[in-house]
Amino acid sequence: MNICVIGTGYVGLVTGTSLAEIGNSVICIDNDEKKIKDLKNGKIPIYEPGLDEMVKKNVDEGRLVFTTEIKEGVVNSQIIFICVSTPPRSDGRADLSFVENVARSIAKHINEYKIIIDKSTVPVETSEKVEETIKRNIKDKTIDFDVVSNPEFLREGTAIYDTMHPDRIVIGVNSKKAADILDKLYKPLGGELIITNIKSAEIIKHASNSFLAMKISFINAVSRICELSGANIKEVALGMGLDQRIGRRFLNAGIGYGGSCFPKDVSAFIKISEELGYDFNLLKSVESVNKDQVQHFIKKIEKTLWIVKDKKITVWGLAFKPDTDDMRNAPSIPIIETLLKDCAKLHVYDPVSSEKAKEVLPDNITYHDNMYDALKGSEALIIATEWDEFKKADLDKIKNLMSQPIVIDGRNIYDPLIMKEKGFIYTSIGR
Ligand code: UGA
Repeated sequence: MNICVIGTGYVGLVTGTSLAEIGNSVICIDNDEKKIKDLKNGKIPIYEPGLDEMVKKNVDEGRLVFTTEIKEGVVNSQIIFICVSTPPRSDGRADLSFVENVARSIAKHINEYKIIIDKSTVPVETSEKVEETIKRNIKDKTIDFDVVSNPEFLREGTAIYDTMHPDRIVIGVNSKKAADILDKLYKPLGGELIITNIKSAEIIKHASNSFLAMKISFINAVSRICELSGANIKEVALGMGLDQRIGRRFLNAGIGYGGSCFPKDVSAFIKISEELGYDFNLLKSVESVNKDQVQHFIKKIEKTLWIVKDKKITVWGLAFKPDTDDMRNAPSIPIIETLLKDCAKLHVYDPVSSEKAKEVLPDNITYHDNMYDALKGSEALIIATEWDEFKKADLDKIKNLMSQPIVIDGRNIYDPLIMKEKGFIYTSIGR
């Protein structure tokens, strides 16, 4: 099928590339000229395992092209994906101006029947507005089109796998014609395809992300009870998670959820509910537990070190989670900012996110290319992201390099008994 994807951020680039991979002709569009120029030269703007190779393969085989020309994409495609960002406004509501702009452009160039798919995360009722905007701006009122809500569930770091092996595909649509075409489009990916009304599809996205965030805040709150009572959160999470109704995934206690999705989507869902006349108190608590969790961790660091001033402290892991270079809402940011305010000497290491970190963190930080180099003479090691290489690190080497064997682990990657045996002063979460 001929497809165009408007917006080449995480969702757009991965969606476009994956749809090309299963045999479609895909035009990816972005108004950022530098990004498109880079993509044309094979330079991928984000770190996502497997994406470089897949983009290159599909470009070489002629199924994937990049352009800044929205007209080229709209005219030549039957299916148009809207994948532009919907950033949070200062009051927590989503800014939908990029979506509106794209809808206007589609209306300007539409020449025959099209399916316009909203894949960006948007508040319920957005598809209605998109339809209205196109109807208002379309010149030839006889041209038919359908607007569909098809939320995306990929995770950063496993985006290709998630897209190629979806648990479910949600299509919110009220046209049989569009539903049949999309059924055919998605068939090669497998996964359960569910057809819903448009508003349900929009709510499924916010409700899913909010539920997962709630699971994380719940386990983080339980971790506090574990700390106060002497229980072990890992054992508690295992005992809970083996109940299949609860499930083991997303029960890792830590320093809270970050990234570009959960914080934004939880606060947007609170706002959406408020506007519809419901006070979603439960989600307000999810947010406040999350904010408190990182503050609690900072207090742990201060309590363990007593005086932070002039101490050399190493932070391993800067990105909001492993296998990504994304620094948006990374818990490492408030931790590092607080330690710098307290005049610590910060040495940091992350396998891939140093460059992006430099854009958002204060200047007086020393970045290292090797995790052990970052540790030399350090008085404390703080783990802020659970990268695999940290889990596999040589504990004896860590101890020998540091001037004090203090490890404050925000992701529970080491076994407290082993750490004790090796002579570390080891603090983690909920145990
Ligand atoms: C999330 C959802 O998982 C995706 O399904 C969704 O498509 C995406 O948002 C989106 O809306 O675009 P993502 O933000 O990439 O994906 O990352 P997750 O793997 O969900 O992790 C989110 C945060 O939760 C991370 O900060 C992670 O460290 C934290 N987390 C996750 C925990 O603290 N504990 C856990 O047990 C799991």
